[in-house]
Amino acid sequence: MTAQPFLAESFLETARARVDAELERRIEADGHPSDRLQQAMRYGVLGGGKRIRPALCLAAAVAVGEPADNALVPACALELIHAYSLIHDDLPAMDNDELRRGRPTAHIAFDEATAILAGDALQAMAFDWLAGAPGLNDTVRLSMVRELARASGHGGMVGGQAIDLASVGKALSITELETMHRHKTGALIEASVRMGALTAAHVTKQQLADLGQYARALGLAFQVQDDLLDVEGDTSVIGKPQGSDVARGKPTFPALLGIQGARDHLSQQKKLAHDSLAGFGSEADPLRAIADYVVARTH
Ligand code: IPE
Ligand code: IPE
Ligand code: MG
Ligand code: MG
Ligand code: MG
Repeated sequence: MTAQPFLAESFLETARARVDAELERRIEADGHPSDRLQQAMRYGVLGGGKRIRPALCLAAAVAVGEPADNALVPACALELIHAYSLIHDDLPAMDNDELRRGRPTAHIAFDEATAILAGDALQAMAFDWLAGAPGLNDTVRLSMVRELARASGHGGMVGGQAIDLASVGKALSITELETMHRHKTGALIEASVRMGALTAAHVTKQQLADLGQYARALGLAFQVQDDLLDVEGDTSVIGKPQGSDVARGKPTFPALLGIQGARDHLSQQKKLAHDSLAGFGSEADPLRAIADYVVARTH
């Protein structure tokens, strides 16, 4: 099958299809001694998901003039980390949610121990794939491994999840809330953009700085919209239980600023994301389109 070209107007759709096909192929090719574990891993990764982080990785490669194909495996590695984080996020010891992407969460569809192990295995698989990513030299691969490790670990997503759990029922200041969001969601989104940009040997410090600013604004916008959807969304559309944050006393933007305040914050971050790309031409149109999608998304 000939791969479709990446066009700005349909970038997300094409990226999703390419990433889905690559994830499917690679997970199938990677043998596992336990059928049940493999099924749970497949369940957590395939069959749904907007694939925003992989799309950002591909779009950032395009923005710095590289072929998106060189970013495809790093993009898939990002999605594996994201899928693992969702499986663990839904566990009874964490958010205790039973619906994800419109289906029972992994610990409901399988069992808690299998869900924990599937998350663990997906995390390791991400680094395995990244370390062998085709089309990139060892120096680039090593810097990407470090990007992904730092963004996923205690200084990034996992650290943010720890703040989230420790903040239940507490009134955070806006700065504390932003710090939590920047870690639990923002870090992986920023890594997605940086890893795409790192596929280019010639990427400049200025480009990385501009793309970093774009990604930080987008990461914040992404989680603010996620918080808004928890309040205003419909379970059948968002594919996860509406009202879960409120029921658990989670610190969120709408809880702190009200719906309108959260919406205003979202528009400010969208503008900042666009402004950050002022130094780029039409090659950054896919990144612009993703920013527009993220703040308008309904699921
Ligand atoms: C949900 O992420 C978890 C957050 C970080 C807010 P997504 O909204 O990207 O979830 P999927 O992958 O599309 O299901
Ligand atoms: C989760 O944030 C962020 C992760 C690191 C997985 P949420 O707990 O708000 O994500 P959802 O709403 O369950 O998708
Ligand atoms: Mg959570
Ligand atoms: Mg959750
Ligand atoms: Mg949420």
